Amino acid sequence: MNAHDSEKVIGTLLSEGYQQVPTPAEAELVFYNTCSIRDKAEQKVFHRLDTFKKENKGKTFAVLGCVAQQEGEKIFEKAPHVSMVCGSASYNQLPQMLVQLESGNKRVTGLSLETDLTFETPLTRRDNPYRAYLTIIEGCDKSCAYCVVPFTRGPERSRTSQSVTKEARELAQMGYSEIQLLGQTVNSYVDPSPAGWDFATLLDQVGRIPGIRRVRFMTSHPRDFTQAIVDKIDANPALCNHVHLPVQSGSSQILAAMRRSYTRDEYLHRISLIRAAKRHITITTDIIVGFPGETEADLAATLGLLDEVQYDAIFGFKYSKRPNTAALKLGDHIPEEEKIRRLTIVQERQREIQARNNLAYVGTQQECMVEGFNKATGQWIGRTSQNKTLNFLYTGASEADLTGRYAQVRVTRSGPNSLAGEFTSHA
Ligand code: 5AD
Ligand code: SF4
Repeated sequence: MNAHDSEKVIGTLLSEGYQQVPTPAEAELVFYNTCSIRDKAEQKVFHRLDTFKKENKGKTFAVLGCVAQQEGEKIFEKAPHVSMVCGSASYNQLPQMLVQLESGNKRVTGLSLETDLTFETPLTRRDNPYRAYLTIIEGCDKSCAYCVVPFTRGPERSRTSQSVTKEARELAQMGYSEIQLLGQTVNSYVDPSPAGWDFATLLDQVGRIPGIRRVRFMTSHPRDFTQAIVDKIDANPALCNHVHLPVQSGSSQILAAMRRSYTRDEYLHRISLIRAAKRHITITTDIIVGFPGETEADLAATLGLLDEVQYDAIFGFKYSKRPNTAALKLGDHIPEEEKIRRLTIVQERQREIQARNNLAYVGTQQECMVEGFNKATGQWIGRTSQNKTLNFLYTGASEADLTGRYAQVRVTRSGPNSLAGEFTSHA
């Protein structure tokens, strides 16, 4: 989401006549986009701003994103060389804010979360010419006890289905073959137009656009994950057979303390819907260890869940305290070394699961979207529909650039984090 925000901001700046340069040193105006989801984001941002100041005297600085939203005007006090502070809900105000900035105003802010406008822009300048991110819903109305997002990105607002499908068709015409639908809780999408599409319908319709070969979506909330989504994936091969479904913990006690609004069993029910699909859909998740009050038994429940679900990948995090969040008031915070120990145990267990599961792909044929070439290994880097990295040798005309094309690859080896194979044909 954060990277795509930068793409939107860059597109807006370019349309206002600015030029992008490769390094801050070459710029007159430095935009610093920030994320505050975990860790000591604020400290890192102030430290980096300090370094910028020393190395880039006389430039104009703007701070964007979640740290901007969270720290607000305090940024001007702590870092007086910053002239603009703008949260992601205010990026549609950027053109006006730039005028103020250029006329010498040293304290320009865009910090309102009251906006009912989703930041839609046809101006987005996308980094990748084949895979396009497309935001369908902004903000979050859930209130997970550890999470800063509802405070930094504001309430949920969905784009109309017409605006999403129009942009998706334009992307297809521009040559993008893969679209990744984005939202903090992407499947909580509610079409505000009279068409009234649900998320499953929108997903399917985007996958029906001529030229679109792959559609992905991130991030789903288990509470809003429906049978209809699985049915659409089953029926429409353009929808990638991969679901990222963050569980956060395998313990119902911790899930309740986290205010995730589902129990372990309710989560496992959603998993059973995915497992009952006709296509083999891979499942990945996010795990937080060391949430306040997490016991050895809670950790064991998370490890048991990993065994039960057999995830294809997990993103594991140590709980970190975030400003404004409800979890700050909870007692029994877990020491850092203990969080590290728990995370290591979780990651080791998952590594074994992945190594075993990936072995089952050896000997199969997979279609890949080619993402690039690794000079160090002499292999092409592909991604399967199931979101597995598949590195492969191509012995055809070696100078041909396969990037952005599709290839059939026979898998010959596997490891815990990737597959390796040999090119068989163009796809
Ligand atoms: N501490 C640790 N991890 C967090 N995440 C969100 N907030 C926190 C926090 N305070 C993780 C969750 C979420 C992912 C994007 O980041 O696992 O799904
Ligand atoms: Fe944060 Fe929970 Fe919303 Fe996800 S669903 S963005 S974890 S508050």
